[in-house]
Amino acid sequence: MDQDKDRPFCMNRRSAITVMSGGVMAASFAPGDVVEAAEGEARLEDGVYPELKIGTLSRIEVGEPLAFAYPLKQQPNFLVRLGAEALRGVGPDGDIVAFSALCTHMGGSLRGRYRHDVKAVGPCPFHFSTFDLRKGGIPVHASATQNLPQVVLRVDGDDIVAVGVIGLIYGYRSNLADGDIADGATPGRPGGPVIMRG
Ligand code: FES
Repeated sequence: MDQDKDRPFCMNRRSAITVMSGGVMAASFAPGDVVEAAEGEARLEDGVYPELKIGTLSRIEVGEPLAFAYPLKQQPNFLVRLGAEALRGVGPDGDIVAFSALCTHMGGSLRGRYRHDVKAVGPCPFHFSTFDLRKGGIPVHASATQNLPQVVLRVDGDDIVAVGVIGLIYGYRSNLADGDIADGATPGRPGGPVIMRG
C-alpha cells in the first residue's frame, strides 16, 4: 500500500478526513451547508459513522460491482473497481469507489445499471439520470441535479472498509437515522451530526 500514501484519495483515516473536505467543495454545497459538512467531517474523525468491511483488495475484479448495505441495512450501495483512476478512488490504482444505489432524483434503483464502458451508472429506470463515477457521482444526463452519495473508503491491509458517506442518501433526513446499522458494521458513536448536502 505504499503507493496509497502518495495518492490524496486513498483512505487511511487521516487522508479520509482531508478528502471529505475536498469532496464537499466539489459537490457545490451552499455556504451554510459547507459549515455543516465541515462539522460532519470532524465527527467522521470522531467515529460517528459505522465502519464496515465491504471488500477484499486482492480479490476485487475490474468492472464487476459488489452490492452492500451501509451505513444502515436498508441503504443499498455498490462497490466497483473502475479500471481508471477516480475522484476519491482507493487502492493502488485509485480506481475503487463506492456509491449509493438510490438515484438522487426520486430514488430509482440503480442496481445492475453500472456501465463499464463509460465508468458510469444509469440510466435510472425512472427518468434516465446517469452519474459519472470517476467524478464523484456527478449527474451527466437527465433529471437528477445532485451527485450520487459517495461512500468514503479506507484500505486497511487487504480490507476495503466503508467509513462514511458524502451526500444525503435519497429518502433519508439523515444518513444514520430511521433504520438499523448494517449487519457486521462496527457501530459509530451516536449523536453527532453527519455529512449533509446542499
Ligand atoms: S428517479 Fe432516477 S431519474 Fe428520476
